[in-house]
Amino acid sequence: MIVAKSLAEFQAAYEALPNKSDIGFVPTMGALHEGHLSLIRRSVAENTSTIISIFVNPTQFNNPNDLATYPRTLEADCALVEPVGVDIVFAPQVHDIYPEPDQRIFNLGGLDRFGEGPRRPGHFNGVAQVVTRLFNLVRPTRSYFGEKDFQQLAILRFVTEDLQLPVEIIGCPIARAEDGLALSSRNTLLTPSQREAAPHIYRCICQARTWMHECTPAETIQRITDAIHTNPELETEYIEIFNARTLEPVENWDDAAEIQLGCAIFAHPVRLIDNIKLK
Ligand code: PAF
Repeated sequence: MIVAKSLAEFQAAYEALPNKSDIGFVPTMGALHEGHLSLIRRSVAENTSTIISIFVNPTQFNNPNDLATYPRTLEADCALVEPVGVDIVFAPQVHDIYPEPDQRIFNLGGLDRFGEGPRRPGHFNGVAQVVTRLFNLVRPTRSYFGEKDFQQLAILRFVTEDLQLPVEIIGCPIARAEDGLALSSRNTLLTPSQREAAPHIYRCICQARTWMHECTPAETIQRITDAIHTNPELETEYIEIFNARTLEPVENWDDAAEIQLGCAIFAHPVRLIDNIKLK
C-alpha cells in the first residue's frame, strides 16, 4: 500500500497500477471507522485496484470551528486500511487539490433545497467541487459513498449524470454501532455521557415506522422531536420526512412511492445526522 501525501507521489503510484479501467475509489475525510471499512471492503471485492483519499476538504465546511476540530488521524487510518487491501491512500495537501480557489457553482438539480442544504449553505457545492476534482485525478471506474449522507449521495449521483462523468456511483448501507448509533467520524468528539445519549436518536426515529400508521408526517415529526427531547443531552435541529427521489418533504404518506426520514440532532457542539427508510 502506498501512502501518497502529494500530487506527484500520487501520480507516480497511479501510473504503476495494473488496470486503469477497473479502479474503485472511496473518497473520505479520514478518522476512518467501520462504516468507511465497509465501503473499502466492497471496493476491494469489486475492483482490480482500490484508491482511497483522505482529505478534509475546506470548501465544504460552513462552520470554521467544525473544520478546525475535525479529527485528523492519518497514521491510524493507514494502519486500519492496509490489511483490507487498499492500493493507494491519497492524502493530499490543500494546494494539491486547489492550486487556485475553486469558483465553480454546480447545478445540484435543486436537491440542496431541503434537509442539510439550507442549514449548511455552500456545503454541497463544496462537496461537488472536491469530488469532481478527485474524480478527475483518480479517474475511478466505480466510487463508493455511504447512505448515511443520503442527500450527499443523491446530489453526487445527480452531478455525475449531469456532467456525464464516466464513473459509477455506488451507495452502501449505513454502518451502526451495536446500540444503533450511526457510525460517524464525529462520534469521537462526543463526551462519554453524550455517547451514551446518542443511540436515543436511532431508537426515536425508528418509532416513525409505527407512528406512520397512526398519524400524518407532520405529527410523526412532532412525536419524534418530543421523544428525542426527553434526553437533555440532545437537541433537534431538524427532522424531515421526504420523497426519497426528489428529497422534497411530503405532507401525506401516499405523496411518494419511497419515503425517507432524515434528521440532524445536536449533542452540543457535535452535530449528528441519521436517516432511515420508511417506505
Ligand atoms: O462524505 C464525506 O466524507 C465527504 O463529504 C467526501 C465525499 C469525502 C467529500 O469531501
